[in-house]
Amino acid sequence: MKRTKISRLFDPGLLGSEVSVKGWVRTRRGNKHVQFVALNDGSTIRNMQIVFDMSQFTDEQLKPITTGASIHVTGLLVESMGKGQTCEVQARTLEVYGTADPDTYPLQKKGHTLEFLREKAHLRPRTNTFGAILRVRSALAFAIHSFFNERGFTYLHTPLITASDCEGAGAMFQVTTLDLNDIPRNDDGKVDYSSDFFGKPTALTVSGQLEGELGATALGEIYTFGPTFRAENSNTPRHLSEFWMIEPEMAFYDITDNMELAEDFVKYCITYALDHCRDDIDFLAQMYDKDLVERLQFVVHNDFVRLTYTEGVDILLKSGKKFEFPVYWGADLQSEHERYLVEEHFRKPVILTDYPKEIKAFYMKQNEDGRTVRAMDVLFPKIGEIIGGSQREESLEKLSARIAELGIPEKDVWWYLDTRRFGSVPHSGFGLGFERLVLFVTGMSNIRDVIPFP
Ligand code: 4AD
Ligand code: MG
Repeated sequence: MKRTKISRLFDPGLLGSEVSVKGWVRTRRGNKHVQFVALNDGSTIRNMQIVFDMSQFTDEQLKPITTGASIHVTGLLVESMGKGQTCEVQARTLEVYGTADPDTYPLQKKGHTLEFLREKAHLRPRTNTFGAILRVRSALAFAIHSFFNERGFTYLHTPLITASDCEGAGAMFQVTTLDLNDIPRNDDGKVDYSSDFFGKPTALTVSGQLEGELGATALGEIYTFGPTFRAENSNTPRHLSEFWMIEPEMAFYDITDNMELAEDFVKYCITYALDHCRDDIDFLAQMYDKDLVERLQFVVHNDFVRLTYTEGVDILLKSGKKFEFPVYWGADLQSEHERYLVEEHFRKPVILTDYPKEIKAFYMKQNEDGRTVRAMDVLFPKIGEIIGGSQREESLEKLSARIAELGIPEKDVWWYLDTRRFGSVPHSGFGLGFERLVLFVTGMSNIRDVIPFP
């Protein structure tokens, strides 16, 4: 008999049929007449109750069925009299695949803290919490592809090993095959990269955007979705050194088109999760964050507030609130400032635009005022910045001048400048931090808990 996943077994059409279930034991309880096993196979947050009539099984047979053991049961699927489940399986046969010694298996049934589970990252996918998070994460990844696919975007694969530092922040992980104990040097004492694997310094990508722009100025609308690496201080609940980013890049979009796309995009993903992962989201809400569902629905049903950085700074200055980091025009906003605007002032997601050029990357479109650039950050409750993007500078002259001003060697970006040299167009794009979206949708508060292996 073929195995049926537990998620399917709750389909009322299967009641009264003989089924085969396989999974991991969550708990076993009962008495000498009847034993109940809660079985989970990862297909749903819901456990299937397996009922063992002890006139047909021996204590010896059931002894290996402890928390964490894996078993295969066949039996009749019937309506359940018990509280909390609609159906159950009356066991007819039992096969134990693998035992889990109660003295050494770390995930006993009592609730563990998230800190404890971070130390047991290799086993935590077997808990209810991480099962739920990982299913939501997977559904969101699917939603992302379907959003862009429905709109005719091309999925572009950008390199992970690269010689370009897109954000110019210098927070890159170097990739080398040089022998670190015996580094070849030039006459001037500098590292001789000519004998390195690529013949020059390379690193893991911090963003696929620049290559994304090559795609957008050929294919029109593209998106990337892949791993991203940053060697920045990631000792915060919102930063990872390895995370996933989605970067759409669109020819012929100005910043308003860009903001509209960003808003539609996150609303689509959240709606998808609410429609397809409701059991998991309800479970996470009940365990960690009572207001989760309300917050998700609120974001889906309300327009995001749009204002400029300058207006935002004014509000912060007038708030009378004491912040840890000082607020002044030109300061890079910290998460406390972003969250004040979103959670206390507007009580809505906010899109801040037109930041000072000094705190943003070289490629952003310069405004007439000479001080600001056409940047846009989307700020979310509990998260702060979830999206960063901009309209791009399409003028070769202005972009070259900015590059020179920042001291970026033209030999590193000539290929990028070719998009402006030949058939340049107004265009825009943004980057969504995937884990920040998963954080928001699951209501978790530490980013380490929404990536399988932080
Ligand atoms: O704001 P960032 O640095 O923007 C870029 O990389 C642009 N190239 C995007 C673009 O316009 N195509 O990063 C974009 C988003 C942030 O808003 C944040 O959500 C996420 O990526 N992010 C991180 N997420 C987790 N850990 C980190 N260390 C992150 N750094 C950025
Ligand atoms: Mg940013």
